[in-house]
Amino acid sequence: MPSTDQSVWFITAASRGIGLALVTQLSASTSNVVIAACRNPEGSPKLQQVEKTAKAELHIVTLDTGDEEAIKAIPEAIKDFLKDRPIDYLVNMAARTEGNDQAFAFSSSGFMHTMQVNVLGPALLAQALLPFLERSKKRVIINVTSALASVSLNIGAKSATYSISKTALNMLTYKQATQRPDLIAFVVDPGWVKTEMGGPGALIETTESINNLLSWIPDAGQERSGKFFNNKGQPLPW
Ligand SMILES: NC(=O)c1ccc[n+]([C@@H]2O[C@H](COP(=O)([O-])OP(=O)(O)OC[C@H]3O[C@@H](n4cnc5c(N)ncnc54)[C@H](OP(=O)(O)O)[C@@H]3O)[C@@H](O)[C@H]2O)c1
Repeated sequence: MPSTDQSVWFITAASRGIGLALVTQLSASTSNVVIAACRNPEGSPKLQQVEKTAKAELHIVTLDTGDEEAIKAIPEAIKDFLKDRPIDYLVNMAARTEGNDQAFAFSSSGFMHTMQVNVLGPALLAQALLPFLERSKKRVIINVTSALASVSLNIGAKSATYSISKTALNMLTYKQATQRPDLIAFVVDPGWVKTEMGGPGALIETTESINNLLSWIPDAGQERSGKFFNNKGQPLPW
């Protein structure tokens, strides 16, 4: 069993991209317990490699965040190894995109699937894991959003479905924070990052995004709750 000063993290999208980078970094320290969730652990060789070298207690669980029944099964899947331990940080990283679609031309099925994975999934996962968060002194929900969610930044017509889903995720987070002031729930834009979603022309590597995020998220206090930040913890406009 870990000592009480360990932090327990639950992270979705651990297979690749920013989620894999976060799991990799947290797994390098014995002060973390990492629950790494992804759709297909057997098909995620990079995550399996992290498991081989992890210093942290690392558990890999299967989770498709677009599958409501799979989300409901998660408490049962983690309770045996967590026992009476909390979840301190829930990181809702998993997301999909319909690419650069537009408000007057998008696919209905793609729109609904995106809302299911990017909005409903994080909402239902927070509901399912609430009893574990309630055991924690930290109780932090980090919903990974995008600057494209911002109306004030006036980014234009591009990527309509994805942007709408992330704006809805922002509102979900505000509702979580206001309904439960005992939680710390906020949204972060990880930056424009070189991943499959960000593309090769993106500005930063996953390690830079994660280094920035981990420079402030572990110490995030109540003043962060219900707000929108960039990867350095600076406020972004809604
Ligand atoms: N990269 C950027 O520039 C950028 C900018 C702003 C915001 N973001 C946000 O940052 C987060 C991570 O993005 P990324 O760039 O790392 O993306 P990525 O490299 O394209 O990876 C997407 C991740 O989401 C997972 N995923 C997709 N649908 C899922 C589902 N139904 N259930 C479970 N997992 C699912 C994928 O799992 P599989 O391997 O199973 O497909 C993969 O792990 C996302 O929330 C994204 O919106 C990224």
